[in-house]
Amino acid sequence: MWGWVRAMAGRGFFICIEGLDCCGKTTQSLRLVEALRGLGFDAVYTAEPSGGEVGDLIRRRILDRRRRVPVVVEAVLFAADRLDHVEGVIKPMLSEGKIVVSDRYLYSSLAYQGAAGLDIGWLLEINRFAPKPDLAIYIDVPPERLVVRFGHRRSVMEYLEVQREVYKVYRMLVDDGRLIPVDGDRPIDEVSRDIVGLVLDRLRVRGMTPSHG
Ligand code: TMP
Repeated sequence: MWGWVRAMAGRGFFICIEGLDCCGKTTQSLRLVEALRGLGFDAVYTAEPSGGEVGDLIRRRILDRRRRVPVVVEAVLFAADRLDHVEGVIKPMLSEGKIVVSDRYLYSSLAYQGAAGLDIGWLLEINRFAPKPDLAIYIDVPPERLVVRFGHRRSVMEYLEVQREVYKVYRMLVDDGRLIPVDGDRPIDEVSRDIVGLVLDRLRVRGMTPSHG
């Protein structure tokens, strides 16, 4: 259905953490990496938009402004940044057998650019090079709970009306089974305990133990 290649036949483990702006993704991704390292796994944190040149351009010229650029421009730039990220960071780390935790990935394009009107099939097509994660987690917090966290200097995405539309697409991806939801509207420790538990279960099923790290 996705036309995706598997991440890396049997090597490494690729996790992405998704969710609305300010839902706690970064905190949870970092905590997950820390917990995995504490257990002896070789885990690394990475994020999209990436720290590369296109990612930098996205932050400065696409997100940090008052009005959105045409959504096709967003989609193509996020896809270009993802290609950089996949080739320069994700694949090399996976081929070293690491557990890669990406704070946002392809599903952010489906949700944010999909919510702005782009066809999900087309978004998948322009992201065809992106390997399917072994586990894609969605931190579920309703948009109304997040508005209070949006700062004074907000990005073009940090508006309730935008987040409401994005939320609908994320929920659809959960209903499709493409994202595994975790209730994020709880104390940080409870959310991270669930995420770590979910990841450890999947690692066990894949036969990955700390000695593989
Ligand atoms: P954040 O990672 O700090 O939440 O900020 C990234 C913003 O970029 C966030 O509003 C979601 C948005 N975004 C997209 O619209 N499409 C994408 O493909 C990605 C990776 C992020």
